[in-house]
Amino acid sequence: MTQQKATLTRPDQLEQEHKQQLRRYFDGVGFERWAAIYGQGELSSVRRSIREGHTSMLAQAEAWLDEQTFPADARALDAGCGTGLFSTALARRGFAVTAIDIAPQMVHAAVAQSEQAGVRERINFVTGDLETIRGSYDVVACFDVLIHYSQSGFAPMCRRLAQSCRETLLLTYAPHNQLLAMMHWLGGHFPKSQRRTEIQMMSDSFVAQTLATAGMRVCRSVRVSKGFYHVTLLEARREEAL
Ligand SMILES: C[S@@+](CC[C@H](N)C(=O)[O-])C[C@H]1O[C@@H](n2cnc3c(N)ncnc32)[C@H](O)[C@@H]1O
Repeated sequence: MTQQKATLTRPDQLEQEHKQQLRRYFDGVGFERWAAIYGQGELSSVRRSIREGHTSMLAQAEAWLDEQTFPADARALDAGCGTGLFSTALARRGFAVTAIDIAPQMVHAAVAQSEQAGVRERINFVTGDLETIRGSYDVVACFDVLIHYSQSGFAPMCRRLAQSCRETLLLTYAPHNQLLAMMHWLGGHFPKSQRRTEIQMMSDSFVAQTLATAGMRVCRSVRVSKGFYHVTLLEARREEAL
């Protein structure tokens, strides 16, 4: 009986271990790498291409957001906020923002970023797993986070984000094609001892179906490809709002 229980809980345990591994990575060597990519300093050509791709992805997301009208007291969630680039962009647009990240160092950097931008008071920072977030938000953004999760982790996180979203969900995932470039990209992110080539690409249909089970429909999507950066950015809306 004990054995059966252990078998039943193993997938959950593996997901939790995977999250802890990511937390350690993004709170250590991964923080140094990503903070540099999201910063302004000199970079190698590979990382520069990731910075350029990420910058253009964020610009596209901001452009989509700017096409819409939100109430004056609109709330936004930046899930897996990293160093807070998009949290700050949301706060500058007047949203009351909640920014959550599993890695404490990332949250510290995001706080510093918001102070520099003069929008600290508009952002509630939380250190933790995005799946612990409750409440509902007009806009939910989750960029370059779900790429680190296999289908079994991706689906519940994606549904959690959708459940938190009243109106507009913006997220990125790793598209299924361009396999080689993606493997290089992912491989390059991790030190040899921590490389996780099982980090997943998702098919468009899997993502759309997962969102549909949470009542959201994909309205538009675009591939953003630059050097070693390859993601699909999508915007989904609540079915009843369409
Ligand atoms: C590649 S960075 C992207 C940062 C930010 N979204 C951006 O695009 O600028 C991925 C971030 O996701 C965070 N993360 C990974 N899994 C998470 C989880 N389960 N809950 C919250 N944050 C998570 C990491 O700590 C890291 O800061």
